[in-house]
Amino acid sequence: MTNQNNHQIEAIEAFAQTVLGYSSGQHVALMMHLGDRLGLYTAMQGQGVLTAAALAEHTGLQERWLLEWLRGQAAAGLIEHHGQEYFALSPAGAAVLTDESNPFYLAGFFHSIVSPETLTRITESFSSGLGMSYDAHGANCACGIKRMTGPGIKLLPLFLGRIDELTERLEAGINVIDIGCGAGLAMLELAKRYPQSTFLGCDPSPTAIEMAQADARQAGLSNLSFEVARAENLPQTAQYDLALTLDCIHDMTFPHHALRAIRGALKPEGLLFIADIKSSARIEDNLANPIAPLLYGLSVLYCMNSALSEPNGAGLGTLGFNPTLAQKMTAEAGFTRFEQLDFEEDPFNNYYLVRP
Ligand SMILES: C[S@@+](CC[C@H](N)C(=O)[O-])C[C@H]1O[C@@H](n2cnc3c(N)ncnc32)[C@H](O)[C@@H]1O
Repeated sequence: MTNQNNHQIEAIEAFAQTVLGYSSGQHVALMMHLGDRLGLYTAMQGQGVLTAAALAEHTGLQERWLLEWLRGQAAAGLIEHHGQEYFALSPAGAAVLTDESNPFYLAGFFHSIVSPETLTRITESFSSGLGMSYDAHGANCACGIKRMTGPGIKLLPLFLGRIDELTERLEAGINVIDIGCGAGLAMLELAKRYPQSTFLGCDPSPTAIEMAQADARQAGLSNLSFEVARAENLPQTAQYDLALTLDCIHDMTFPHHALRAIRGALKPEGLLFIADIKSSARIEDNLANPIAPLLYGLSVLYCMNSALSEPNGAGLGTLGFNPTLAQKMTAEAGFTRFEQLDFEEDPFNNYYLVRP
């Protein structure tokens, strides 16, 4: 009996530690958001060991606030503590938190903070079943997604270059569409690199498209345009040589219709290049993914939320478009060849090349 009680107490203590760990994580995440927003990681990058006073001098911010933030970041193991009140951002910390060209750049993950109003809306979704579109999250979300998916998108030219003769065709001039382009980073990168090709990005979010159009105007590119449009409504005129869907099929309310429309918009020899979150048809595999808690959280807040934002939405969610389903759904949409591509450089996505 006593042994049983001891076991129960130990189990409760261990469970409480787990829960406290998540509460700690929530607060550390908010501190990272502040650090990112205030430019503190960037300010510390390359500065070696420093004090709060030196950081205050460098940033023009208040020393006492910076000191408490530095202590918390040191407690979280994100900033090195060098004795007394001396701190440093390590080279690894700088790579992950300040270097946007690094595939492991993660500061963008802390950009979007879900507002209390959005959380209330989501509690209501658990009763109504209806979620909210990406656009309903506002500009901060579109910007956060751009920063979150940016490192993967920067790898795109490398990945497309591994597909037979695609670089040569892009250099010679082809017609490319990015469906569900969000704030348009992929098209912007490719349009700069391949001036002979024509690039169109489409997304149902006017907020994201406005951001994309502003960046395109600033870049002064004449081979790039963006428009507000849904995948399902693509004109069925077989005009594109290459279509991309980057981390968005699982967000769509009607992915079957979307894939069928993409098939109809591609030339007979065209290519559909799909990136979607690494996942499996087996729940056991998904639960074993070390970042599964993050991915399921993103799903309820954004991806499944979007995929259920209309009645009868498919609701696939972040881990829902797995390789088995991708092959089945693309075949049902009329594609005849399906290939999973092996791109180890991207830790988050699976890649597929699909042909009519
Ligand atoms: C996670 S974001 C990805 C954005 C961008 N492709 C990237 O990788 O940064 C998913 C995008 O899918 C878009 N989306 C949702 N439903 C869609 C639909 N039916 N047709 C096209 N895009 C859609 C959303 O508006 C959102 O911008």
